[in-house]
Amino acid sequence: MSQSQTYAPNPEFAARAQVKSIEEYRALYERAKTDPERFWADLALKELTWFRPFGQTLEWQAPFAKWFSGGKINASYNCLDRHLTTARKQKPAFIFEGEPGDQRVITYQELHHLVSRFATVLKQLGYQSADRAIIYMPMIPELPVAMLACARLGITHSVVFGGFSAEALKARILDLNATVVITADGGWRRGREVRLKDAVDEALEDCPDVRHVVVYRRTGSAIPMKEGRDHWWHELDAQLSNDPFIHHEAENCPAEELDSEHPLYVLYTSGTTGKPKGILHTTAGYLLQTAITMKWIFDLREDDVYWCTADIGWVTGHSYIVYGPLTAGATCILYEGAPDYPAFDRFWQIVEKYRVSIFYTSPTAIRALIKQGERWPEAHDLSSLRLLGSVGEPINPAAWEWYNRVIGKERCPIVDTWWQTETGAIMISAMPGAIPTKPGSATLPLPGIVADIVDHNGAPVPANREGYLVIRQPWPSMIRNIWGDPKRFQEQYWSRVPSAYFTGDAARRDEDGYFWVLGRVDDVMNVSGHRLSTMEVESALVHHPAVAEAAVVGKPHEITGQAVCCFVTLKQGDWNHQVLGNELRQWVAHEIGPFARPDEIRITDALPKTRSGKIMRRLLREIVTTHAVTGDVTTLEDLTVVTKLASQQDEE
Ligand code: PRX
Repeated sequence: MSQSQTYAPNPEFAARAQVKSIEEYRALYERAKTDPERFWADLALKELTWFRPFGQTLEWQAPFAKWFSGGKINASYNCLDRHLTTARKQKPAFIFEGEPGDQRVITYQELHHLVSRFATVLKQLGYQSADRAIIYMPMIPELPVAMLACARLGITHSVVFGGFSAEALKARILDLNATVVITADGGWRRGREVRLKDAVDEALEDCPDVRHVVVYRRTGSAIPMKEGRDHWWHELDAQLSNDPFIHHEAENCPAEELDSEHPLYVLYTSGTTGKPKGILHTTAGYLLQTAITMKWIFDLREDDVYWCTADIGWVTGHSYIVYGPLTAGATCILYEGAPDYPAFDRFWQIVEKYRVSIFYTSPTAIRALIKQGERWPEAHDLSSLRLLGSVGEPINPAAWEWYNRVIGKERCPIVDTWWQTETGAIMISAMPGAIPTKPGSATLPLPGIVADIVDHNGAPVPANREGYLVIRQPWPSMIRNIWGDPKRFQEQYWSRVPSAYFTGDAARRDEDGYFWVLGRVDDVMNVSGHRLSTMEVESALVHHPAVAEAAVVGKPHEITGQAVCCFVTLKQGDWNHQVLGNELRQWVAHEIGPFARPDEIRITDALPKTRSGKIMRRLLREIVTTHAVTGDVTTLEDLTVVTKLASQQDEE
């Protein structure tokens, strides 16, 4: 690996970069290492606007951290109000492009206005700090408006990705004990309507605590509205003007002065059990680290047009479409649809149209576009681009080289950013003017991040040896808890390796100290950069009346990185395997969401088990990955099961 080509930072880029050389990076890193609290405290005072400065920088009682205690702050204020006294007031905060081609440019002043009004709507419905809201919306400006309105009042929000099913939505509403749902009639995806309100109605059949549903009209299709519970966004907004006092308040709804550790949001992500966990992020530390990485990694300048193609329903969208860029005062593209609709040049068409300068996407999107050929990007003027980013999964060197040559024209640095829902912000990445890159490596940890690679006992492993990726010191945007489950929080992250945060990733570090992330070591799959637990899919499958047992593994896939492969045994009955296979794929999509639809369902007579009855998923993983079983099989109850499964594979 270490022999791979190294790309030095482009000197022209470096000359104007925020961090200009490897020496400058090392000096920052050293400063953070010598006195981390001082380092972060200085940054927090410089980068954020406080109602009251904090007293203590860090209270750390592993695994519980409190950053910037005593401080009073508001995320919505930092994203909006503080820019209004500067030239940023008239600067676009969002440039929105809907899938059907509709456009809106929303300045910081206009965004502030929309957020202020919607926060007043929420207040009028009786919501306030410490309430919890579920947001289930398409990628339209009202999604960040809803988030920022919640943050303005101190309502903890949980955005549920629009690709999740009614079942998944219900589970999240109940776990969070939310009392309000903010949604839309639907959104557009590849020319078809995704009917969100229908899913909300289905989910709410079992959620008695939700008092109100606010519905934004996006597609205009007919939807049922439940009297007393459901309200149109535009009607509530119009009502604000009926009362002069409320109208006045709506024009400038004050941002609540909240504690640094006020819960900003909960975002559910797949873990190693069937039940997704609610990752809790709080206010000040999260804002600081998302904002500072906009400078360090995206090298944000005042005139940049920045585009992160993620969906806001995932952490990348929270941190790098909403909170990081707005805190840093960026102009962001917000795009509703798919990269391949109406044609494979939609991304490049948008880059050309809006003169995008910073472009941040996933390896899956890059690989899918590579497959369509170079004529699509070649048809567009991409000369505005100056920096490219990658996130969500390891980027294979071939995809990296294509990105560099065809999109970046060998001019744009590439930042491969490693991080997780739990880390809140980017942890390992090149700083584009300072750190030489190697295709496939996320390079070096950021200042203040003490990453290491260790064995089972927590001892560092030698260079080029594979081990567990861990983080040794607390950082400001770290996960604070799993919502409602501190025990699982402690066990999952802070008990696996002594005194370190366990990421769940395997990695190795080369002799230059560069990190190469290899993938998950637990039962979490990474499909198109989306996390999905094997247990979650298994528990969906065994709910189906025909299924006796299910074992799910990730199978390598040339575009999506991994694909979902399910082995199932059936209950007694006369099943048509082909029909049932399709039905089960559909079933999983309905239970979890279309993005979780299995690539393959293999119906089999038996699953490989140990003598104590545990399914040996490791063997199934080997069968789908290498088409053979090499490891230890002595604990297997019946060896013929494996031989049969492996030979079935050969026949395909
Ligand atoms: O396995 C790593 C992979 O994605 C996981 C985190 O997934 P999630 O919480 O959904 O957040 C995705 C967006 C930050 C990690 O544990 N991962 C993320 N970025 C990279 C990566 N693997 C390799 N290289 C990356 N740049």
